[in-house]
Amino acid sequence: MKDIMPVIVKCLDEAGAAVMRHYGALESIEKKGRSNLVTVADHESEACIKRILSEAFPSHQILAEESGADYEGKGDECRWVIDPLDGTTNFSHTMPLFCVSIGVERKGRIVAAGVDNPYYRERFLAECGAGATFNGRPIHVSEPDRLADSLVVTGFPYDRIERFPHYMSFWIEMLPRVHGILRMGSAALDMCAVACGRLEAFWQENLHPWDTAAGWLIVEEAGGWVTDYHGNPFSIYGSQTLATNGKIHNECVEVLGKLV
Ligand code: IPD
Ligand code: CA
Ligand code: CA
Repeated sequence: MKDIMPVIVKCLDEAGAAVMRHYGALESIEKKGRSNLVTVADHESEACIKRILSEAFPSHQILAEESGADYEGKGDECRWVIDPLDGTTNFSHTMPLFCVSIGVERKGRIVAAGVDNPYYRERFLAECGAGATFNGRPIHVSEPDRLADSLVVTGFPYDRIERFPHYMSFWIEMLPRVHGILRMGSAALDMCAVACGRLEAFWQENLHPWDTAAGWLIVEEAGGWVTDYHGNPFSIYGSQTLATNGKIHNECVEVLGKLV
């Protein structure tokens, strides 16, 4: 792991700088489907990370949002799971809630992770068994142990227009039970907010591996729990993400589990 973390940090430094060069200066925004945006910043960030990895770990697999799987001729020891820009819609509107997110998977587990918001200079890092940090300081999940004392966050997948009533059913169930529900627009930052105790829980369906790979380890290393909506073990390749401070996890499972 010693050799992996410095490379994650280098990727976050350089990809974050690439993203910021385009912040507030986009000439065009493309669409992948009906409501899924992509920009030159997404592409440049991803190219930058892949260039660093091709030098540092040419035999490692890469799963990156914009270019997909690059497994051909690679070993199966390590897979870098990369979201070059999480929160592209926010970024496109100059709303500064976006990040670069990188998780390194080994034998089905994420073993090292980094999430960086280059606008606010907020960086979350975690290594399996070594804890999680926020700008270099150890972090821990929050204390509230009842939904009634919790501020929670969720997101809408890109099929939100087709499945609008389904996603709203979670708001209807959750809203009367909590202090409030946020929708911030970056799943990786949502999970980091749970990890550092700003928020008590995050849930969303139909996220992709690159949305959750880093956040999963950061939450768990900060003492939180990540599962599906029924409390089953989490997989970045699964369809449900529930990340909490652990203390309100069972209550969240009771609310979410009956809706899917
Ligand atoms: C999106 C964000 C958003 C979540 C969407 C994701 P992108 O990622 O994480 O918060 O609700 O489901 O697709 O497209 O900005 O990388
Ligand atoms: Ca994403
Ligand atoms: Ca993205």
